[in-house]
Amino acid sequence: MSILIKNGTVLTATDEYKADILVEGEKIVTIGTNLNAKAEEIVDATGKYVFPGGVDEHVHYASFGSLGYDTTHAAVVAGTTTIADFVPQPQGAGLKESVLMHIENQTKGKASVDYVLHGLIMDARPEVFEEIPTMPEIGVASVKLFMAYKGTPYYVADDAIFNALRLAKDAGVTIMVHAENADIIDVLTKELVEQGKTDPKYLAEARPVLTEAEATSRAIYLARMADAPIFVVHVTCKLAMEVIRDAYRKGIPAYGETCTHYLVLTEENLAKPNFEGAKYVCMPPLRSQENLDAMWEALRNNWLLAVGSDHCALDGGFEKAKRKGMGDFSKIPPGSPGVENRLAIVWTYGVEKGKISRQRFVEVCCTAPAKICGIYPQKGQIAIGSDADIVIFDPNWKGTISVKNSLHGVDYNAYEGFEQIGRPEKVYLRGKLTAENGEFVGQFGQGQQVKAQPFGLCYEGVK
Ligand code: URP
Ligand code: ZN
Ligand code: ZN
Repeated sequence: MSILIKNGTVLTATDEYKADILVEGEKIVTIGTNLNAKAEEIVDATGKYVFPGGVDEHVHYASFGSLGYDTTHAAVVAGTTTIADFVPQPQGAGLKESVLMHIENQTKGKASVDYVLHGLIMDARPEVFEEIPTMPEIGVASVKLFMAYKGTPYYVADDAIFNALRLAKDAGVTIMVHAENADIIDVLTKELVEQGKTDPKYLAEARPVLTEAEATSRAIYLARMADAPIFVVHVTCKLAMEVIRDAYRKGIPAYGETCTHYLVLTEENLAKPNFEGAKYVCMPPLRSQENLDAMWEALRNNWLLAVGSDHCALDGGFEKAKRKGMGDFSKIPPGSPGVENRLAIVWTYGVEKGKISRQRFVEVCCTAPAKICGIYPQKGQIAIGSDADIVIFDPNWKGTISVKNSLHGVDYNAYEGFEQIGRPEKVYLRGKLTAENGEFVGQFGQGQQVKAQPFGLCYEGVK
């Protein structure tokens, strides 16, 4: 199938220009002005922006009690054509074995979006760490470790992170960390619960910004001691962001992302009545407006590289999953759906409000995530030879975000009532029209694994 997309304004991470794009099969083959190429289909994109399909480097479709890949069409409809999912490691299983089982049992024939996978260490045996350098053999070039969640299989101690960083370095595997000080959070949580402070709003007191900043700083010191780069996921606050920014300025390869909710939702949401605050329980928690402002500033200046959604549509949603934590905020399962709101929020509250440029929008939502995950330039770029993952975006569309028009499969949307400006009019995944005006028109199960290459963005300039 060949498609000629004519008269659109192409957005990339560095440019903006009027051009026609010719797609043959799954790839972009020509970009130019007034192309007269013959194509089976001609699409007029006059007045529209044309940008690469979104790459969401942080989603959960198999961990933390999330719904599975049969709900991934929600991503594509919203303009995200590639997700990067964290693969949980069952106790006793190897790291590679976990990924291969995940592909066989969870993704094949179910994913409606292309996906790249991150390893996730949950059974920290020495032989598991030895597998880290071999992960690129199966298309996995990043592994996440948790400094938080003490008392669960997710938590690992500093020696494990140090060990992982050392083993990852020569193989070009990116080590990602969830940076929160688990010990201090444990103490504060117990104290609050003992005092009867059990409502969702106390989550913010149990996990203050200093616990995140300290762990971020520690993670970067561990990376320095291991002489390896490091990527800090879901950075929420000014203090932690500054630790990363200042380390990078000193020549240390320390990087981070923030997430959609840390850009527009504040800790005040946790105090909503009737246990509604539980909808906003995520870890690290939502922060104050000052911290939100710092996240935008960091995105504008490339102090943080990308925006992930941390999508986690809990099986059971609010009524059946979140409510299990009534009477003790520490038992509320964390996470919220967001894969279908990431581009909309960053565009509406970033580009439209003048906080970031259209180029930064493409960079933080598409190009940088692809580079971080080791799938660039196959993904995340409008260029000859790249996959024809293309969004034709109508900047004049206006609507309101609501669970009523969400496809993520749960009973609430954390951005309920938020105004949305612009939306994808057409979304192509590898040259196939897959979504149109908010409807999924592709084939369920059409998604493919994208094999990550090692030495992604975090290794740039690392000897
Ligand atoms: O609250 C969150 N972030 N849920 C998903 C788990 C994680 O730590 O990424
Ligand atoms: Zn995390
Ligand atoms: Zn997450």
